[in-house]
Amino acid sequence: MRITLGVTGGVAAYKAAELVRRLQQEGFSVEVVMTRAACEFIKPLTFAALTGKKVITGLFAESGGEANLESAIEHIAVAQRTDLLLVAPATADTLAKFSRGISDDFLSTLYLATTAPVVVAPAMNVNMWNHPATQENIERLRGRGVHVVSPDEGYLACGMTGAGRLAGQDAIISAVREVFQMRQDLEGQTVLLTAGPTQEDLDPVRFLTNRSSGKMGYAVAEAAARRGAKVILISGPTALESPAGVTRIDVRTAEEMLNAVQKHVAEATTAIFAAAVADYRPAEAAAHKIKKTGGEFALRLEANPDILATIARKKGERLIVGFAAETDKVAENARKKLKEKDADLIVANDVTAAGAGFDVDTNVVTLFARDGRDLALPKLTKREVADRILDEVVRLSASVKHQSAD
Ligand code: C5P
Repeated sequence: MRITLGVTGGVAAYKAAELVRRLQQEGFSVEVVMTRAACEFIKPLTFAALTGKKVITGLFAESGGEANLESAIEHIAVAQRTDLLLVAPATADTLAKFSRGISDDFLSTLYLATTAPVVVAPAMNVNMWNHPATQENIERLRGRGVHVVSPDEGYLACGMTGAGRLAGQDAIISAVREVFQMRQDLEGQTVLLTAGPTQEDLDPVRFLTNRSSGKMGYAVAEAAARRGAKVILISGPTALESPAGVTRIDVRTAEEMLNAVQKHVAEATTAIFAAAVADYRPAEAAAHKIKKTGGEFALRLEANPDILATIARKKGERLIVGFAAETDKVAENARKKLKEKDADLIVANDVTAAGAGFDVDTNVVTLFARDGRDLALPKLTKREVADRILDEVVRLSASVKHQSAD
């Protein structure tokens, strides 16, 4: 689990250093983002030494005097790789920015850019905390699902006594744990996933493939692991990093993918087929590089096995989830696929829709469940789509259990 710790400019910033240690002891990987004001209270170097990672202090990190592209889009990269954004201490100013959506520094931009859960631990002067402006901001954030670890009462650095002291580490850690445990609804389950494209060899240097990036499948793998499942990810070639806590098996061809799935499927309670498997492969893969002869060249293809359908034939109580990339008649084709392939859930998307399909970070899908429920989702990040798919998996597996108990 990766936590991004946002440190803002209050006297309590020094306490964040110890918090990093505690989080690490709890098994979290921590990355630190500081506001400019926080750097007045504590040096980024302290956090860099504790985490072994670069500490981000601004939106545009200087590189050789010029802001570079990598730093300009870093907030998106951090937003995507974090499993939880924790801000401790959170100043009145940062809370106000979060509440209003102002994004004029790295942390406030990250807050808007991430879909991970957010925990804030405010710390400030008692009057600032009690001020209606701050209280309104807190309420608005709570209403949006932000977890607030309320400050303790006590002696404050400003000399006053009252509420405003950064909550104790135990309270902050238990809020973090609570967020992660909120959705441990896949605990005890094993999820097997296929993801990415396949490569079908023509000769030792050439192959047929497709535009799948693997992003959707990897997002589901990551979400399933976050929600407590044991995850086996059987992946075609992608440029993606393995999600934390996931066992990844790399394959190239559809045949290798089928073999790997068959080897591991017995232990899976749910199998999710997100891979874009090539429907056809060259009938013969030449042992040597095919020479150019000039003129026409015909390629004979043969059908690949349908991995999903092969597994679904002997599925027992295992839930089978398939994907359908369509360009027209999405609902009709998806329902047909659900039946023909004997799947329990089909995630269908119109790959021609804006914000859907290959290589983008968002997707627009409709979930077609075996029990007749259709769920059309708005444009969401692939990470959010992943959670919605798993919500359906949880719902359907509860009904399977219910039926077998009847
Ligand atoms: O029939 P179609 O290719 O549209 O079905 C897509 C679904 O079937 C996806 O879930 C995909 O991963 C799976 N599939 C498979 N093996 C194939 C072709 C598709 O597992 N050879």
